[in-house]
Amino acid sequence: MTSAAGVTRVYLDWNATTPPLPEVVEAMSAAAREAWGNPSSTHASGRLARARIEEAREAVAKLASSDPRDVILTSSGTEANNLALRSAFHEPGGRLVTSRMEHPSVARVAELLEREGRATVRWVAVRPDGTLDLDDLARALSEEGVRLVTAQAVNSETGVVQPLPDIVTLARRAGVRVHVDAVQAFGRGVDAGPEADTRSLTAHKIRGPKSIGALIARPGTPLHPVLVGGSQERGLRPGTVDPVAAAGLAAAARHALGSPARWQALAPVRDALEKGLCELWPRARIHGASARRAPHVTSIAFPGWQGSELVAALDLEGVEASAGSACSAGTAEPSPVLVAMGDAEAARASVRFSLGEDTRFEDVEFALRAAQKVLARTFVR
Ligand SMILES: Cc1ncc(COP(=O)(O)O)c(C=O)c1O
Repeated sequence: MTSAAGVTRVYLDWNATTPPLPEVVEAMSAAAREAWGNPSSTHASGRLARARIEEAREAVAKLASSDPRDVILTSSGTEANNLALRSAFHEPGGRLVTSRMEHPSVARVAELLEREGRATVRWVAVRPDGTLDLDDLARALSEEGVRLVTAQAVNSETGVVQPLPDIVTLARRAGVRVHVDAVQAFGRGVDAGPEADTRSLTAHKIRGPKSIGALIARPGTPLHPVLVGGSQERGLRPGTVDPVAAAGLAAAARHALGSPARWQALAPVRDALEKGLCELWPRARIHGASARRAPHVTSIAFPGWQGSELVAALDLEGVEASAGSACSAGTAEPSPVLVAMGDAEAARASVRFSLGEDTRFEDVEFALRAAQKVLARTFVR
């Protein structure tokens, strides 16, 4: 909860982005003053900048329980996903197995690879509870020429935790490479797919800055750059890496190592929010309620409302949430995730509330008072 000039606001949109930690801001401002050199330069200024990059690589490796040599810094989670998917179809041909629940930085790449004639995409069915249908995945893996399975660790809209151990086991049995979009899982105490061949991370979901992320690849996984240019990041990600963003990522990744307990403790806070909202709007439906969910997210359909309308009304009352994922905010498209779960009606009527390690019961109480005011309005208009 923040209060300025007598106005109180509660931020419940941590899946869109997280507020940067004070130590992240401090590390970045120190780096902006001191580490402005080009990290590829061999002189002292370059070495100072290079040190920030290597510290970030080490911190990410520690968070991902991998070796720093297996961490490729990118500009975002989006770029890490692009690099993983495009690498698998560098030589055209074969099948890409994924689902309609994926973030656009996976789903759109899959569609593009198909349009380019590089891959045939097999969209695996999604169960009504928001988990990947493992029977259909097994069928997809028995088809000819499957080269890559790509799955998310946690759905950004519903918080549903995907059955990664089963997904990886099925793929391994079929001898197929696996990519996990773990952007919403790292640092949150949920399985981030340690067995996968490649994994994506982004700093701004773990209280770091925007515009820096990483792809973590198991040794020996063939990778091919998406961009063409210099030899930064072993030529896999040409372009000068920003030492200032890297300093922020290092601080955020170190903090994230100790974060799981703080995020796991959010379950009763999230449950209080869900209970309160369902009492205020008895027709409300919680998406993925019967599945295992990350303890900080809830996506709720409010039949009779447009999700975007409700989000705008809550914002006026000081509560920040979102209708679907931030990447689809502002579009008229219904949520593809909820459509994939077979709840097309709810796809336009839903609001996602995502809590974070700083969210307290009093934030939920404030949000419920705001929701009470807003939801009561339907009866007077
Ligand atoms: C599951 C998932 N993957 C990938 C991304 C993209 O990350 P970035 O914003 O760093 O491009 C997001 C961002 O919302 C996400 O939620």
